[in-house]
Amino acid sequence: MHLIKLLSLITVLLVCIINAQCNYRHAELGLFPSVNFSSTSHPSQIPIENNGLLDGVTWNRVNSEFEKLTNEPVNGSEYKLILFLRHSEGWHNVAERKYGSKYWNDVESKKPQYLDSTLSDDGIVQAQQLQQRIIKDVTQNKLRIDLILCSPFSRALQTAEIGLVHLWSNHRIPKISIEEARESIGVHYCDKRHNRTYLTSKFPKVDFKRLISNEETLWTPDVRESDQDEFIRGRKVLDLIYNRREKRVIVPAHGGIINAITASLGYAWNEGASGKTLPGDIKFISGFSMMNTEILPVIVRRDLKSFDSQCTLIFFFSCL
Ligand SMILES: *[C@@H]1O[C@H](CO)[C@@H](O)[C@H](O)[C@H]1NC(C)=O
Ligand SMILES: *[C@@H]1O[C@H](CO)[C@@H](O)[C@H](O)[C@H]1NC(C)=O
Ligand SMILES: *[C@@H]1O[C@H](CO)[C@@H](O)[C@H](O)[C@H]1NC(C)=O
Repeated sequence: MHLIKLLSLITVLLVCIINAQCNYRHAELGLFPSVNFSSTSHPSQIPIENNGLLDGVTWNRVNSEFEKLTNEPVNGSEYKLILFLRHSEGWHNVAERKYGSKYWNDVESKKPQYLDSTLSDDGIVQAQQLQQRIIKDVTQNKLRIDLILCSPFSRALQTAEIGLVHLWSNHRIPKISIEEARESIGVHYCDKRHNRTYLTSKFPKVDFKRLISNEETLWTPDVRESDQDEFIRGRKVLDLIYNRREKRVIVPAHGGIINAITASLGYAWNEGASGKTLPGDIKFISGFSMMNTEILPVIVRRDLKSFDSQCTLIFFFSCL
């Protein structure tokens, strides 16, 4: 009898946990620019030099507000501080500018020479400028990061290796590459990755064990991932972050997938735009475009509270 009760309790807990994962939100505390998803223009309208902070806000203040949230959970909500970082300029970006978007999409992007495109010369300079800003923020302004979750593409890894060098050389900060944080899959060669053996030799500090296989298996030359699939993949990135204990995470990745992840966070979506309906009735618009090395910080809240009544009910029946 006791065993049955124990098993029921475990089932209830599992149900609660699984349900809770559906409910990520963006906690608006007035520390970061609020992203206006009704507009496809640049979201924050603040200079990239601010590393995502509003004028007058310091990382010290972010830390104390964030600690308040994590130390005194008001209602079972769980908070994470996530910094989304877009890579700096890659050779594929140079090519798109040179040839124009149409020719790039129709012809040029389909050439194998762009495979896992690396940073351009300007891109390396941008990453070095990011490095200066990050060093200043870490040493003087108390920016704190516990985990780096990175896309498996060279341009994102290079941006992180150069730009986040201060965190990169800190052995206590895990550096993990996840397949889920890669850019929109398919067709463009810049969005096809190298094999794990190659990546491990190029970026020895990074743990690539989580990639689904050594070889690239997701990319195909003729099918581009749908917005819906990318949205679901974006939500998996949040699941992965919430499955770990680190609370302050930086995600070096790409414009498209960052759009898809933030789509899960309940920003105001514009029904008038492309209007595709995603799971959870969220309307997807093509989104904003982040600048090279731009950081978008978000405090994410996962609510458990809204599922309490459901959990209690199941618990009640399981005890009968
Ligand atoms: C968001 O952008 C839309 C379209 O540009 C604009 O009409 C709206 O006023 C903006 N909302 C806010 C809160 O800035
Ligand atoms: C991985 O990719 C590199 C570079 O493309 C290639 O030379 C190598 O043979 C591949 N290794 C494996 C184990 O697939
Ligand atoms: C939990 O508390 C936070 C902070 O007080 C609040 O913003 C949020 O709406 C609450 N969530 C629920 C589900 O009540």
